[in-house]
Amino acid sequence: MNTSTNAKASVYVTRRIPEVGLGEIREACNVRLWGNETPPSKEDIIREVASCEGLLCLLTDPIDADVIEAGERLRVISQYAVGVDNVDLAAATERGIPVGHTPGVLTEATADMAFALLMAIARRIPEGIEKVKTGGWRTWEPMGLLGANVWGATLGIVGLGRIGTAVARRAQGFAMHILYHDPQRHPALEEELGLVYASLEDLLAQSDFVSLHCPLNEETQHLIDEDTLRQMQPTAMLVNAARGPVVDTDALMRALRDGWIAGAALDVTDPEPLPAEHPLLKFSNCVVVPHVASATVSARNRMATMAAENLLAGLQGEPLPYCVNPEVYT
Ligand code: GLV
Ligand code: GLV
Repeated sequence: MNTSTNAKASVYVTRRIPEVGLGEIREACNVRLWGNETPPSKEDIIREVASCEGLLCLLTDPIDADVIEAGERLRVISQYAVGVDNVDLAAATERGIPVGHTPGVLTEATADMAFALLMAIARRIPEGIEKVKTGGWRTWEPMGLLGANVWGATLGIVGLGRIGTAVARRAQGFAMHILYHDPQRHPALEEELGLVYASLEDLLAQSDFVSLHCPLNEETQHLIDEDTLRQMQPTAMLVNAARGPVVDTDALMRALRDGWIAGAALDVTDPEPLPAEHPLLKFSNCVVVPHVASATVSARNRMATMAAENLLAGLQGEPLPYCVNPEVYT
């Protein structure tokens, strides 16, 4: 593509993203923007991609084989997120379409949120807020709202990628004993951060807090289910800032109800969004925030710039700077 001619490529952008990225795309392309606050349906996406060379999508968009097939002219898919479980990568690769994502720029924001959730559930912060707001704070209580120590506790990190590692760095500051489980051993990080590799079974059995940082795929879908929840300690707490379906929601509710574990703090859920009347929200030992781990001004701006870079590179036939299926280039 030559952006200096008026033969601009058409791109479909499935939601308004920060202007730093959108503006760059507008300069180079004809942008068709889905302007609503809620996502387009699969039918909407199919209709739009049929006439577009580029697609900029979100984790709420089902970019499956049907969508990819409908995008006959598609030359690039740029996802405004690091996780790409909503994209059928095999279908994209088969068509030779590179898929971009936004690694690195949301790592620290996401790790901050995972740690905030860990602290919130450990020290029962949402329950305390609720108590104050509803007039329950009548006096200083010797045994009211007792929580768990974070300092010196054992943290089990499931998935030692960028985000898991960033969580470990934070945990070091709290003198935590840190276990990790990952498909690969990471000897340099073990050394640098004092991490101890453990089987999933040992990690679950020994951790006071278990924090999930793996991608969602066939191996990790319902990794945390009845069986694995029962391996955790009754005093342990689960943090999920990865993807909702890594945890079996029904099993988690039984675990919270019957005391297999002490609490859970979730940035992501299954289903997502979680309806306000969902029974999971009735548990006082569960904290849920609406998938906002990367929601800082700077992280979202950098995600927008990176998604724009990927999109424009793809349209120009250049390798995407951040590509999840580089095999399209071989
Ligand atoms: C957010 O969940 C992301 O994958 O970027
Ligand atoms: C995501 O950025 C990860 O690798 O953890």
